[in-house]
Amino acid sequence: MRMQHLIISAHPNEGSFSNALVDALKRDSEHNDVKVVVRNLYDLDFNPVLSSEDLAKIKNGETPSDIAEEQRIMAESDIISLVYPLWWGSFPAILKGYFDRVLTHGFAFKVDQDGARGLLTGKKAFLHTSMGNSVEEYENKGILKAFRQIHGQEVFGFVGVEVAGHMFYPRISDSSPEMKNKYIEEALGFYKTVMLDEEVVDIVTK
Ligand SMILES: Cc1cc2nc3c(=O)[nH]c(=O)nc-3n(C[C@H](O)[C@H](O)[C@H](O)COP(=O)(O)O)c2cc1C
Repeated sequence: MRMQHLIISAHPNEGSFSNALVDALKRDSEHNDVKVVVRNLYDLDFNPVLSSEDLAKIKNGETPSDIAEEQRIMAESDIISLVYPLWWGSFPAILKGYFDRVLTHGFAFKVDQDGARGLLTGKKAFLHTSMGNSVEEYENKGILKAFRQIHGQEVFGFVGVEVAGHMFYPRISDSSPEMKNKYIEEALGFYKTVMLDEEVVDIVTK
């Protein structure tokens, strides 16, 4: 069966580096005969607020329809790419809310007497974080590792998805078009390395 690649975009601007990367990932996957589904959370006007009504419905096994649609797409996907700018050291609110509402108990994970267990096994995630600061600044502060842990393992790792790579794109607003193109080419090359099961060298774009 054809592989499905879910690309989640959480940048509000059409002309951003993030959305240029989304377009390139889409083209590249389609070129390799992979089915692509892009979910641009701003275009969808995705409601990011997990409400008490949502919680009550989910508890009763009645998943709200907008959540069920995202879950259906995620369940059918083999590869998940997340493309977002770093805002206050974290995800943009719309993306944080996507995780709050979509990765529900019973769909993404289960907690029982043996503890928590991820249910979305067999999938690979690639994270792409664009940022205003340099990678060195965050390395020196000792929090680059925390970003990998909190954005990658505490979300995807927790629900059983393998984090295949986490790319950081530094000082992106000051980067030249050539530099941005180089980052995009490196990102596409990274997917090929992982998919061909070659030796994986995690890249931190500097
Ligand atoms: C609300 C807000 C918060 C931000 N917080 C951070 C931050 O914590 N660290 C950082 O390096 N850059 C921060 N930035 C800069 C953005 O990460 C940067 O502008 C963005 O990655 C550009 O993305 P693009 O090239 O895809 O348009 C922030 C920008 C905004 C608008």
